[in-house]
Amino acid sequence: MSSSQGPVPVTAPASDLPSIYVDEVAGTDDDSSDLGTQEKPHKSLSHAYFKTEQPERFSYLVRKEEDGEWLPAAKAAMKKAVQWRQTQLKKASKGKEAAAQQEKEAAERQKILEEAKKIKVEEDSSLPAAKPIKMSVTDADVVTLGTEGQKGTRVRVWGRVHTVRKQSQLVFVVLRASDKKLQCLFSGQLAKTYDILTLTPETCLEVFGEMRSVPSGQKAPDDRELIVDYYEISGKAPEGDDSFATRIPLDPKTGEVRSDDKEAFYDIRHLVLRTELASSLMRVRSATKKAFRQVYQELDIEEADPPALVQTQCEGGSTLFEFDYYGQKAYLTQSSQLYLETLLPSLGDCYCIEKSFRAEKSLTRRHLSEYLHVEAELDFIQFTDLLAHIEHIICRVIDILMAQPAIKSIIEKLHPEFKPPQRPFMRMKYAEAIDWLRDEGILTDEGKPHEFGDDIAEAAERRMTDKIGKPILLTHFPGPIKSFYMPPDAADPRVTESVDVLMPGVGEIVGGSMRIYDYEQIIAAYKRDGFTQKEIESYFWYTDQRKYGGSPHGGYGLGLERFIAWLCKQHTVRETTMYPRYMGRCKP
Ligand code: 4AD
Repeated sequence: MSSSQGPVPVTAPASDLPSIYVDEVAGTDDDSSDLGTQEKPHKSLSHAYFKTEQPERFSYLVRKEEDGEWLPAAKAAMKKAVQWRQTQLKKASKGKEAAAQQEKEAAERQKILEEAKKIKVEEDSSLPAAKPIKMSVTDADVVTLGTEGQKGTRVRVWGRVHTVRKQSQLVFVVLRASDKKLQCLFSGQLAKTYDILTLTPETCLEVFGEMRSVPSGQKAPDDRELIVDYYEISGKAPEGDDSFATRIPLDPKTGEVRSDDKEAFYDIRHLVLRTELASSLMRVRSATKKAFRQVYQELDIEEADPPALVQTQCEGGSTLFEFDYYGQKAYLTQSSQLYLETLLPSLGDCYCIEKSFRAEKSLTRRHLSEYLHVEAELDFIQFTDLLAHIEHIICRVIDILMAQPAIKSIIEKLHPEFKPPQRPFMRMKYAEAIDWLRDEGILTDEGKPHEFGDDIAEAAERRMTDKIGKPILLTHFPGPIKSFYMPPDAADPRVTESVDVLMPGVGEIVGGSMRIYDYEQIIAAYKRDGFTQKEIESYFWYTDQRKYGGSPHGGYGLGLERFIAWLCKQHTVRETTMYPRYMGRCKP
């Protein structure tokens, strides 16, 4: 008979003490208080002993099998149950103690904070007027550092809280302003104020005080610290679940954002931009743009600013962002090339650094919907001049960047094995690349050996570039896989005077070519590319360049995000732009 069908006679009474029943098969160890009877037995002896009040006043009968006999609990099992109870009771009492301690500490902290609120900070008017400085100022002529025997300059400086460390009565705060940091020391009454006791990372404040050398043996940015005598907070940052550290958890070792869910971090890109990696990349980006401008200036090439809203395509219809322009069809520009070409007769060689837009339908690590395009057009040149110019631009920009200690140190940190590329770059014709891919057994996306005429897909291109391990000028692509404006090579009309620059880790970073400059040839090119008569007419302004004195010229476009991804060894161009735009993302 099972326990559910009624009580089973006790065949082996344990003692005179009332019994608690344990059925290891049909019992339960839930926490209801009415367990322990023959009808509702416990499941385990330990639980029975633990749950029973004054357990030593009972005897314990255990049944090990369905419908088995109730037998007194074995001595060893009883010993185990007693021990388990003691351990559990100790644990519970420790937990209670800890909770009580926590409560006590919270109450004490609350009391301290209430007292802190009463402390008012005021600037001491007897002190010398504080000199407003930027954190980046380290010039000894502007700021004298105090030492044992000499007072330092009293300054006022803005920053955001990077870290806060409390050490007995002192509070060390490292403030950050862009890539500069300043250690500030709060002591005395200032260290007891409410705002300093509750100071959170990213809070923005202005600190006033004497600038001093850090005591010997101690480390601080620029070997100095500000002995704060007054402060004013302009914006507090939240604590708890909404704190900066909770929203952007950083890996303590690498200092990088710790995340399995990259998309969630692109949602809060505005906060991620404050982290070290993102701000370093933005700094390199800014320096790179300046470097390109510097090189163009050195080469006497003028800057232009072509329109972003256009009615003709440059790089094929599949990636056009179309929109309604006062009732007419228009597009966001894919490239400023065609417009730059129209400026050659008036301005001569020219360049622009403008946004280009591509309605990319795939999510790859090197494609964005909006990217910064460095484009140039050069008049009266031959194809070999174009190749030499591209090489020069890349190398010179790298030289300029590496000559800036702050930028060099970021690049070296992010890309330790980086070496400025050696000139001349390896030159490889498209046809040779096809042979190379076939020899190496690298297949097309469809799993077939490459054939002359195939577009070399991203994966194959990257495998080739990574294997070769240095910049490649890949030239002479077949006409059908390239844009309509590229002229055939006189020596081999199957191919065009075209070039891609390929870099290890990223693949193509530059696309360029000579441009057809003959009127009849450009009309034939439109037709070959399948333009309708209406479309051909819409290129009237481009065609006119050939009608009114065409000249041998060429140019190129370089994707800034890809250039920086290569330079700083980033897996994706999404990290090298401020707010990446790609399929499905247009915020924040
Ligand atoms: O090879 P592309 O399409 O060439 C042109 O647009 C020419 N009209 C440029 C010219 O000759 N002025 O693009 C040039 C470069 C690529 O090598 C790549 O670096 C970048 O632009 N690029 C992109 N970068 C990020 N996301 C995308 N979707 C990109 N598409 C091209």
